[in-house]
Amino acid sequence: MKLVFATNNQHKLEEISRLLDGKYDIVSLNAIGCHEDIPEDHDTLQGNALQKARYIQEHYGYDCFADDTGLEIEALGNRPGVYSARYAGPAKDSIANMQKVLEEMADTDHRQACFRTVIALILNGEEHLFEGRVDGSILRAPQGEAGFGYDPIFQPEGYTVSFAEMDIDEKNRISHRGRATQKLYEFLSQHDSLEDKR
Ligand code: IMP
Repeated sequence: MKLVFATNNQHKLEEISRLLDGKYDIVSLNAIGCHEDIPEDHDTLQGNALQKARYIQEHYGYDCFADDTGLEIEALGNRPGVYSARYAGPAKDSIANMQKVLEEMADTDHRQACFRTVIALILNGEEHLFEGRVDGSILRAPQGEAGFGYDPIFQPEGYTVSFAEMDIDEKNRISHRGRATQKLYEFLSQHDSLEDKR
């Protein structure tokens, strides 16, 4: 089954293709010839995920899903949240984003944070939402080279390493996007078995 994932982020494509177990043919925006910047101007994860999925469905006609993720830091009033990608400016620079967070948190021991992902799926004209969350804490300095975004400064609860020090399968098992994708996968599996019985 072919499903468009509304992203060109190679890390995310790889993560999600692994999670969906090779069962679905996950296709990127480049692969369908979509090279424009899809608008995402809502102030909630859910609003942005739906906006991206609807855009692809309306302009390209494919069944598709889109995700939106935010890092919510308690000491910063849940910032950067929905503004995580551009926290330090429009360049979407991960190093600058992490630096800004570390500077803002230099004087606090309150390090509690979570990543939240919302996935919006449009299948046969119907919309479905799936949410995943992982709790953890913000480190005092970046650790590790793997992953992307804020991975080097996020340590998931129950671990002594950052996301950027885990291998991709280990991160996937517990991550925000991994958990949301697991729900998407269960939904698609159920949907497939219903279709098979028809
Ligand atoms: P997006 O909505 O998935 O594009 O995520 C917004 C921003 O959150 C990204 O630009 C990253 O900076 C950050 N982000 C999303 N997912 C992750 C992750 O798995 N690890 C670290 N940072 C992430």
